[in-house]
Amino acid sequence: MVVGGSHERTQVGIVGAGPAGLLLAVMLRLQGIESIVVEKNSRSTVEAVIKAGVLEQGTVDLMNEIGAGARMMQQGFRHDGVVLRFDGRDERIDFPSLTGGRRVTIYAQHDVIKDLIRMQLEAGGDIRFETSEVGVHDLETSSPVLCFRDKDGVFRQIACDFIAGCDGTQGICRPSIPAGALKVYERLYPFGWFGILCTAPRSAEELIYAMHERGFVLVSTRSPDIQRMYFQCSPREKVNEWSDDRIWAEFRARLATRDGWLPREGPIFSKTVIGMRSLVVEPMRHGRLFLAGDSAHVVPPTGAKGLNLAASDAQILARALTAFYKSNCSDLLDRYSDTALRRVWKATRFSWWMTSMLHTFPGADEFQHRLQVTELDYVTGSRAAAMALAENYVGLPIE
Ligand code: PHB
Repeated sequence: MVVGGSHERTQVGIVGAGPAGLLLAVMLRLQGIESIVVEKNSRSTVEAVIKAGVLEQGTVDLMNEIGAGARMMQQGFRHDGVVLRFDGRDERIDFPSLTGGRRVTIYAQHDVIKDLIRMQLEAGGDIRFETSEVGVHDLETSSPVLCFRDKDGVFRQIACDFIAGCDGTQGICRPSIPAGALKVYERLYPFGWFGILCTAPRSAEELIYAMHERGFVLVSTRSPDIQRMYFQCSPREKVNEWSDDRIWAEFRARLATRDGWLPREGPIFSKTVIGMRSLVVEPMRHGRLFLAGDSAHVVPPTGAKGLNLAASDAQILARALTAFYKSNCSDLLDRYSDTALRRVWKATRFSWWMTSMLHTFPGADEFQHRLQVTELDYVTGSRAAAMALAENYVGLPIE
């Protein structure tokens, strides 16, 4: 039990105003279930975090079902496929024809966040930004406590029925679970991604995933004038050693095709290096604390699954909490971790597979390279194999 501070009560305390926490808060509110979201950053900071931008069909459907999809439908770009570039040639994977009409939408994560925050606040939802000293306690009782210092310095305690840990990889929720109660599965990859944002017209209609002996490249987009691109680099790569000219030379070398394709170049206004790892913790629950999104798992960005997994966790948890409050039935809550983990592991496998197929591993020999080229040749040449890629990319169903 925690002593002192100002006392409040809610049904579900949610730690973190990222995609998992916000989607959960909105879905619960639509079912008449109260929540308080506690976030350490300011609203403008959470609305500015640059992450990926590929929404699976199921994530798009969810945004629409909860009434948060208007701007996404207007400003997002529907992509019917991706291009795999290898051996100097392009092969396209067509999603609708391989998945019964499913596709992805390109819409930046921070735009999803903005839409959800606005919608939740306008409907009277409770989100506390700029909190500090956040802690979760009494997790093994029927009244766990969420405490924090608010932006005015007042120490607050919220008695909850449940707490949702949606506070990402660096959050406080996962470490609040006693050592030994969680099993951690982790794979570090021996490379990172050098990501840029630039002002330039689009280089291609669809995303290009390129495999090259110098390393992987991804050509993505944010809008008709802003482009997002990445190249594989050392995890310790120094951003300031890369001038714009050097970056463009690297992109041109790795993206070369037999028919002389070139990227559209423009001024680069953001350069970052991101690490690559896979991580899954089991179970995704301890007592009345339920983990969702990056607090429970991390995928390398190659499959564009991070945000989408946060969305499916939130959906599975919202359904389980709704069943608890509407029908007094805790079966779905008891199955939450198993249900979420089945999908998490499938996305983990897909992200690992895409990463392994497309990157150049340090020390890899020519045999390895030929195998990777052959895998790409097979995946793009066999309808069965292309279908396996497509169904994972547009998103597997929640079981
Ligand atoms: C992005 O646009 O940032 C992006 C797209 C696809 C990925 C990863 C990142 O697989």
